[in-house]
Amino acid sequence: MIGATTGPRVGITGLGTCVPEQVMTNADLAKLVDTNDEWIVERTGIKERRIATQEEALSDIALPASRAALADAGVEGSDIDLLIVATVTPDMMFPTTSAILADELGATSAGAYDLLAGCTGFMYAIAQAYGLLASGMSNRALVVGGDVLSKVLDWTDRSTVVLFGDGAGAVVMERVERGGFLGFELGADGTGGKHLWYPGSGSRHYDGSDSFMKMNGREVFKFATRVMVSSARSILGQCGKTVDDVDVYVPHQANKRIIDHAVAKLGIAPEKTVVNVQKYGNTSSGSIPLALADARADGRLSDGKLVLMTGMGAGLTWGSALIEWTEGAAQ
Ligand code: COA
Repeated sequence: MIGATTGPRVGITGLGTCVPEQVMTNADLAKLVDTNDEWIVERTGIKERRIATQEEALSDIALPASRAALADAGVEGSDIDLLIVATVTPDMMFPTTSAILADELGATSAGAYDLLAGCTGFMYAIAQAYGLLASGMSNRALVVGGDVLSKVLDWTDRSTVVLFGDGAGAVVMERVERGGFLGFELGADGTGGKHLWYPGSGSRHYDGSDSFMKMNGREVFKFATRVMVSSARSILGQCGKTVDDVDVYVPHQANKRIIDHAVAKLGIAPEKTVVNVQKYGNTSSGSIPLALADARADGRLSDGKLVLMTGMGAGLTWGSALIEWTEGAAQ
């Protein structure tokens, strides 16, 4: 699916994030599995990540992120009429985490649902929210991206535990007077689904006793380097823009080598690229909002800046969005 937006302007008017307190360094991981800081930094760029405690679930970090996003937008939970949580690690399958959040936030008139699209979930969710806002079905949406993948990792598997961390981010989306989303591109290729999967997590019977997330790192790496480039090119072309027009590039924070590859192939200046994978690892659906928040904290997301976001993940899925950032421009 690809499209340049033609309807009313819709933008992001509030942004908030939350990560668990507990920091796990590469040295901590080396005590659990046969790995070391040098290997992890060289192959991934990751130095540490946040890991939820046994008691913490997704909603425990999604709720503070949501509250921060609402406060940033200057609105209350009751002002939200659409609440989407993109995640593959909800508190439980039902009630949905979105319904839990709607209740906690007082969003009593919101349609609320969870959305599954692997690490690309946040990109899918903002595209859906855009459609409902532009059509007039919704007036103000809260879109949350977050995961606690630490809960579904095999903590004896060194090839996955080093990559992932927990975190959540939330955005308020509504009509804006200027700027806003210029377009979206979303895709899925189920032929690669077997390379990043979580058997035993749904209704398909799984014989194994090892019900954890599993990954073929090399295959996912090949896929990622390909789609990070092709998706970005597609959306830029669709919106009549070039890489030179991009002010801020927010790639999914999976692996510094994947980001470096995309930056080189696309010809985007490294200084325009947001990288925080070193401190959070891959937080799945939390990755892009956490990177947006860091870019904003660094003063890089001022009014009128053209921001390119591209995510990819299980499915296999990918998604890009192009947005002209609007500060304090809600209608
Ligand atoms: N510590 C130390 N050594 C490790 C290790 C670890 N944590 N994990 C794997 N190794 C070893 C392997 O066993 C292998 O050893 P061998 O050569 O003796 O067989 C060696 O390191 C190289 O393994 P390889 O898998 O080729 O490494 P790589 O350079 O492909 O890096 C990943 C592995 C996982 C970092 C990389 O493939 C990757 O990032 N893939 C994409 C994953 C991803 O982004 N997933 C989420 C998408 S949303």
